[in-house]
Amino acid sequence: MAIVQASARYRSIDPRLIERVGREALQRYPSLKAAVKATKTALHQMIGAYDGRALPYSQWLEQLRQAPDMAARAAVCRRLMAEHASTRERLPALTDLYPACFGAQPPQRVLDLGCGLNPLAIPWMNLPPHACYIACDIDTALCAFLNAAIPLLGVHGEAGICDLTASLPPVVADVALALKVVPLLEQQRRGAGADLLRAIQAPRLIVSFPTRSLGGRNVGMATTYRGYMTALAAAEGWSPQVIELPNELVFVIDRNV
Ligand SMILES: C[S@@+](CC[C@H](N)C(=O)[O-])C[C@H]1O[C@@H](n2cnc3c(N)ncnc32)[C@H](O)[C@@H]1O
Repeated sequence: MAIVQASARYRSIDPRLIERVGREALQRYPSLKAAVKATKTALHQMIGAYDGRALPYSQWLEQLRQAPDMAARAAVCRRLMAEHASTRERLPALTDLYPACFGAQPPQRVLDLGCGLNPLAIPWMNLPPHACYIACDIDTALCAFLNAAIPLLGVHGEAGICDLTASLPPVVADVALALKVVPLLEQQRRGAGADLLRAIQAPRLIVSFPTRSLGGRNVGMATTYRGYMTALAAAEGWSPQVIELPNELVFVIDRNV
């Protein structure tokens, strides 16, 4: 699948993932041209909000490093989160969201799955000084940036490359975040989102779904995803608490694991 990897749009996607998607397309489509097209379409859906721009990660890192204190770093983080649709939409809710999700005792170990730029919200999470933040995504350039950025935000941690339809970081956490990633996983492999939520090793899950498409239209997404989570929660015996944001439906689930 070198043809696909050569395309600037997919250059920073984990090559193993491109290979898997490409192999599946080659089994389904008789011609190489059709398989390449199908692979690109599937990858485009996977990366969701990313629009293929090469983001200026080294400049961003420099801005974080130059910030004289944590308040200035938080201001940089807020500006950078505006560069990605998922985190941009959440900015107005940032101050209230994490206290509402974490409760009185912020977690010591956080796992952020399909993280995008969300680790830049760490300054709003009120995590304890020795907290550990493990993030993962399929975007290699993003993960390299976050690996350098996370320790600048007052916690330990790292970002690793992981295809969540195939595996999960072998991490036990107090809280796991799966923000706006479950629909993408279900698109990639039916059942992959639910499999992920069941497999996570954390007593508290924070799972969210977009309620507006990227174009801003409301196309019944809230009803669809509420139904999805209600059915899964009933099957698993979970009793989620629901937080409604203007563009996002958030489920806070406490489980015995
Ligand atoms: C809609 S964005 C959400 C980002 C972030 N969680 C947030 O809400 O701000 C979805 C993220 O999931 C990642 N992603 C998509 N498919 C994935 C997969 N199979 N494994 C891991 N990450 C994936 C994308 O690269 C992207 O960063």
